[in-house]
Amino acid sequence: MSTDTPAGAPIPTRVKKSVALSGIVAGNTAICTVGHSGNDLHYRGYDIADLAREATYEEIAHLLIHERLPNAAELAAYRRHLATLRGLSAPLRAILEQLPARSHPMGVLRTGCSALGAMDTEPSAPDGSGPKDPVLARHIADKLIACFPSMLLYWHHYATTGRRIEVETADATIAAHFLRLLHQREPHPSHVRALDRSLILYAEHEFNASTFTARVIAGTGSGLYGCVTGAIGALRGPKHGGANEVAHEIQQRYRTPDEAEADLRARLARKEIVIGFGHPVYTVSDPRNAIIKDIARDLCAAHGTTNAFAIAERIETLMWNEKKMFPNLDWYSAVAYHEMGVPTPMFTPLFVIARTAGWCAHVIEQRADGKIIRPSANYTGPADRPLPPLDQR
Ligand SMILES: CC(C)(COP(=O)(O)OP(=O)(O)OC[C@H]1O[C@@H](n2cnc3c(N)ncnc32)[C@H](O)[C@@H]1OP(=O)(O)O)[C@@H](O)C(=O)NCCC(=O)NCCS
Repeated sequence: MSTDTPAGAPIPTRVKKSVALSGIVAGNTAICTVGHSGNDLHYRGYDIADLAREATYEEIAHLLIHERLPNAAELAAYRRHLATLRGLSAPLRAILEQLPARSHPMGVLRTGCSALGAMDTEPSAPDGSGPKDPVLARHIADKLIACFPSMLLYWHHYATTGRRIEVETADATIAAHFLRLLHQREPHPSHVRALDRSLILYAEHEFNASTFTARVIAGTGSGLYGCVTGAIGALRGPKHGGANEVAHEIQQRYRTPDEAEADLRARLARKEIVIGFGHPVYTVSDPRNAIIKDIARDLCAAHGTTNAFAIAERIETLMWNEKKMFPNLDWYSAVAYHEMGVPTPMFTPLFVIARTAGWCAHVIEQRADGKIIRPSANYTGPADRPLPPLDQR
């Protein structure tokens, strides 16, 4: 697709029947391409396979938020900068301590982000058209990716044990910071690298539902915290980010690959949709799947939990043979996160931590575009009619 495809024109990929606005161009972006050859993904021109093999999440966050890859000195400085942004203010900790253990961690992040936005306002441009300063927006983006792990794990430990953990650690990476706060011990290097690579895979994905939500909110001139709070709300759904949590629940139903195959056959015969398979855009495969599948396989091999992997892989084979349906990123992310000892309700919050870089990059781009997003609807309601007085209804 060339850059001059007009907005509203369809992209030459297969329109998906269960996806509204499938294939419709809703705007321009210089941040990411998805599925232009059916199964490709590029961040600002770089192929996802190269990024996941060679780079680290902080390099990707810098590429998305600050629009270019850092050199070695800039990367070290950026990591030091992010580490200074991990702290939680006393009012924010007080708010997190009010949220009970039964809260879903996605609700905790959504509430924490909203609270930060209420306490840390973003000034509007002098013409009153809302915040426009990209430098401040980039600072807020860095703040959010740095302190979301602190928010989540401070609440987790306080709500489950009453302990107030220290969140400002010296870890160089967000992946190590998250795992140390979660397990309250030195994280295993193979887990740190596995989590780091999964954050790269989740970081950005063009006009997916949560990013489009963030752009719609940004288009009104609203603040960045509001855009991210709305995006977290959209990501929670099982057809979007919540899919990695549901994928684990599906995998955990079965003790053996044979049991899984027999049950899935029955479910497919009932036309059941299996969360973790298929995609709103990709038609051939999800390019992220091969990378996360290798990560999951290596973790299971290292832990001797090959049965869990075998169950996930048997279901993958069945879905392809029966429905030509391929796993999306969420299917084997569920296996990998479980192997790292991440509680299942925290699977989608990891997606939030990663995708915040992409969301914020899109908000900055939408602000530069300066347009409110306001599509039209096809009306299917009753024809115009007179209003009957109350006593005649
Ligand atoms: C994304 C999604 C809505 C696209 O569905 P769609 O528009 O029907 O897609 P397709 O046109 O590619 O579907 C082709 C066929 O496969 C079926 N199919 C699609 N995804 C399926 C799934 N996850 N499980 C079982 N069958 C599925 C469709 O029902 C359709 O069947 P039919 O030919 O008998 O009518 C769908 O794949 C889905 O809901 N997936 C699960 C949600 C998920 O994991 N989301 C995370 C996305 S990253």
